[in-house]
Amino acid sequence: ESYDMGGHDTYMHKEIVEQVEAVDRVLRGRIDDRFATVRLGGLNLEPGEARRVRRIKILGCGTSYHAGQIGAQLIEELARIPADAEPASEFRYRDPVVDPDTLYVAVSQSGETYDVLAAVQELKRKGARVLGVVNVVGSAIAREADGGVYVHAGPEVCVVSTKCFTNTVVAFALLALHLGRIRDLSVSDGRRIIEGLRRLPGQIDEILKAESEIKALAKDFATARSMLFIGRVRGYPVAREASLKLKEVSYIHAEAYPASELKHGPLALVEPSMPTVAIVPDDELLEKNRAALEEIKARSGRILAVAHQEQEKADHTIVVPKNEHELDPILMGIPLQLFAYHTALALGRDIDKPRNLAKSVTVE
Ligand code: G6P
Repeated sequence: ESYDMGGHDTYMHKEIVEQVEAVDRVLRGRIDDRFATVRLGGLNLEPGEARRVRRIKILGCGTSYHAGQIGAQLIEELARIPADAEPASEFRYRDPVVDPDTLYVAVSQSGETYDVLAAVQELKRKGARVLGVVNVVGSAIAREADGGVYVHAGPEVCVVSTKCFTNTVVAFALLALHLGRIRDLSVSDGRRIIEGLRRLPGQIDEILKAESEIKALAKDFATARSMLFIGRVRGYPVAREASLKLKEVSYIHAEAYPASELKHGPLALVEPSMPTVAIVPDDELLEKNRAALEEIKARSGRILAVAHQEQEKADHTIVVPKNEHELDPILMGIPLQLFAYHTALALGRDIDKPRNLAKSVTVE
């Protein structure tokens, strides 16, 4: 991959399409079939140390923070270590309790975001163990961290992150599997996740084939002034990232909410001119998500669902291929990257360089 546009009109489009190879690259050479685990050469964390970790705190900004939220869920599900993600900027200023049994993970595409770097430096000063999940090799955060996992997304030029987001989540899946297999994840579950990871590039390719359908939907939705994005548990960070993507490139206001919280406020906004994008994975929350769609439909709200099968209550469903339930969030956001892209294109926005935003924020 290079800085050449390679026949695409924008870097954003090029980078969305490149995800097939990028995901293949982050997996390459890391899977250990014999022990149903992954090898992460730069982690610098002995099995004994990994077993003693009581908590994981993930820090990042923007899209990297959202990738960290999915990462925290993957770690909790696969390694059964309590984990959560927080914006690095907030963490720094709230005088956090730095706990010796907590492993800190800094996430950054550029490896240069000031708020993340400053959080890492503060943590190191207090004696904490900090890993990096970083794309740019040899960047400031990668150098400051005690070890980590490179994301190997290749160069990302568009200000808004797409392929690096996906690769970062896959890198977290690798970290979660690695930690899980040191702790209590069974060989059969390890194998199940490895098989799921291997299916990802082909499934991404399949999703990209729906581009013309997504383009038509985006044109149709581009007249909205505001959109609601909803999801639950694994679907919620996907909704947050999809809403951020739409906002950044199209300048349409978008807000993400857990579907379970609709009745506590956002339902008041639902009407025909306020569409909802719903993440509806085929998992243990399917019926609850369907009930939320019903609530929206009852108020004449338009619904675009991203799901594993057609949703009766939705006006349109983008059907994505099913993977293992833990890995489904990796795939469900991809059609919504194309949705944001085509909405922005329909509105004539400056897609690779949205107004007021920078690729890398190296000042406070
Ligand atoms: C800026 C970019 C975002 C990015 C964030 C964090 O706000 O516009 O796309 O997610 O910085 O950047 P990082 O390089 O640390 O991932």
